[in-house]
Amino acid sequence: MEGKFKKESRRTLVTAGLPYANGPIHLGHLVEYIQADIFARFLKLKGEDAAYICGDDTHGTPIEINAAKEGIKPEQHIEKYYEEHAKDFSDFLIEFDSYYTTNSPENRNYSDLFFNTLKEKGHITQRVVELTYCEKCSRYLPDRYVKGKCPKCNAEDQYGDVCEKCNSAYKTTDLIEPYCTICRSTPARKSSLHYFFRLSGFSEKLEKWLKSNEGLQEEAKNFVLNWIEKGLEDWDITRDGPYFGFLIPGETSKYYYVWLDAPIGYIASTEKYCKERFKGKESKDALYYWKSPDSRIIHFIGKDIFYFHFLFWPAMLMGVGYNLPDTIKVHGFLTVNGEKMSKSRGTFITARAYLEQQDPEFLRFYYTANAPSSMDDTNLDFEDFKNRINSDLVDNIANYAYRVLSFANNNLDSKIGKISGRSEKQLINELETKFEEALSHYEKFEFREAVRKILEISAIGNKHFQDSQPWQLIRTDRKKCEEAVAMAANIVKNLSILLAPILPKYADRLQKQLGIEKQTFKNLDFRLQSHRINKARIIFTKIEGEAFSIKQFPLKLRVAKIISAEDHPNADKLYVLRIDLGSEQRQLVAGLKGHYSKEELIGKNIIVVTNLKHAVLRGVKSEGMLLAADDGNKVAVLEAKSAKPGDAVSVEGYAASDGEIGFEDFTKIKMATKNGKAVYKDTPRTTGKGEITADIGDGARIR
Ligand code: 2FM
Ligand code: ZN
Repeated sequence: MEGKFKKESRRTLVTAGLPYANGPIHLGHLVEYIQADIFARFLKLKGEDAAYICGDDTHGTPIEINAAKEGIKPEQHIEKYYEEHAKDFSDFLIEFDSYYTTNSPENRNYSDLFFNTLKEKGHITQRVVELTYCEKCSRYLPDRYVKGKCPKCNAEDQYGDVCEKCNSAYKTTDLIEPYCTICRSTPARKSSLHYFFRLSGFSEKLEKWLKSNEGLQEEAKNFVLNWIEKGLEDWDITRDGPYFGFLIPGETSKYYYVWLDAPIGYIASTEKYCKERFKGKESKDALYYWKSPDSRIIHFIGKDIFYFHFLFWPAMLMGVGYNLPDTIKVHGFLTVNGEKMSKSRGTFITARAYLEQQDPEFLRFYYTANAPSSMDDTNLDFEDFKNRINSDLVDNIANYAYRVLSFANNNLDSKIGKISGRSEKQLINELETKFEEALSHYEKFEFREAVRKILEISAIGNKHFQDSQPWQLIRTDRKKCEEAVAMAANIVKNLSILLAPILPKYADRLQKQLGIEKQTFKNLDFRLQSHRINKARIIFTKIEGEAFSIKQFPLKLRVAKIISAEDHPNADKLYVLRIDLGSEQRQLVAGLKGHYSKEELIGKNIIVVTNLKHAVLRGVKSEGMLLAADDGNKVAVLEAKSAKPGDAVSVEGYAASDGEIGFEDFTKIKMATKNGKAVYKDTPRTTGKGEITADIGDGARIR
């Protein structure tokens, strides 16, 4: 790719996928932001003109619906996540040159520019579509908001786009016995006039671009070429209101589909960056990057969104005549302990929860040492994490650096003398070759291999220090001792430089201890001689005990539907309920009389403790207990309106318990209501399909 540019004028834009402003950053997200950050830092340390661009992806139905559920405006909802995300990234040392939002005036302008240009050029057409519409909610239902039986295999409870059982794809209107997942009522059909982007018109151009672009991974390319061969379908870029997004010019209730304006958000964020960078003398806009022959664009994305980045996005760029991505670096998913991250196993770890337990640079190092440069998954194994950090990072690198510097502090008055050029020539040559190799791995996105090289360098350093035995030499041959330490100090310096893209804070601190300015790759040499260093300090220490402790939530909670309710034969305040737990039915005795009529209860989706010892209450068996909130006056059962019987209820960051629990222990668990939601130690409980709610004020005790 070097050949494409005059080196001096080349500039690079590095992007990472824009996270939805609809939930916390978690360890799965971080694989990508860390990779892209490493690459941007690498370019900057090489002395290249590079900018790392990102921002929140703020539009779409889920954001609009979640904001409405919380009773706030979508703008407030996305604002909250913006702050949270920006803080998470900065705490993980992810340094964006611009972190913006897709809900910005710049993004609106570019979205309109794309839409109008594509329309003028005949790349956009209009067509009537038949959609699923909920009369009760007064909204069209996108595929995640309507469920029913699969039209191909009849499997129950499938979403409106693909069947999880038989994998066939269909439209929401094809579902058999559909229901609205928001209100459970049966939706109607309604037609609407939509805009379509004529993707098929770009098939040839896309194919040519894919085949000629050497910056794309072969495996990704082959997938996409295969799709093109099968024939591309036009893309619906319209969503009907209510929607949170940009209104389409000339329309009153039709919006750009979030996936239209999301990638344009890369451009809007670039514009923001340019405004700040070039304010004053030479004002420039985003086209300095997006339409200039001297610029290259590198997208880092996950394999779940590569359809958008390999087809729609380049076709849109072609349509308006902007630069195409030079490289799209696709990574796989994150597994934790070999499995998909899971809320109920407690392995759904947010960025914030990680930071409460471990050093952010440990994760940066571990991911980099492990993530393949292919589309294969990255596994975070807790045991392996601890071993790798302790042996590779702490032992091999950090302890070595500390030993060298503290030796110089204590024995040589912190002075680094001269390297003996003659005897060390071979070692220097060997190391210099490895520096080159490490840099070339970085350049090719082979970060795991770069780490391997760096560990080799450190191992050579360790061996050299051990073999020279400066602690002996100091007594027998001071000059030789000084030479050995000078060599070692230079290896430490070079390690700090090579590690800087991955461990920027560590590199900074080490360079301060070495008494040198912030280094770049130009400083990869052995010229740290006749120099005084500062006091060495321990930066990283080994992980003791478990790397991560997973907190246990003592209750096993499930969603159940009340099938029937009857009066208890021997008690005035009790009902006997029959409930459906998905895979089984059970009987519960509940003290809800006076608070709910039998009719009110039937059909409700409630929350049941299923690992409570069964009890007999006034002669009637109770196989579990339902959860209700009580404020002293009112009693409100907890409900999971959008879930189905059998769904597990979890508390984020806590693993669900399996063991049985007695009534005594149950009463000690502190749960309460907050903003109409059930919380445990302030963490809301969810079913994976929505929050658990209670129709009662804050602070009501749940039992
Ligand atoms: O999948 C996602 O999380 C999207 N928010 C990514 C958008 S990337 C870009 F196209 F904006
Ligand atoms: Zn509805």
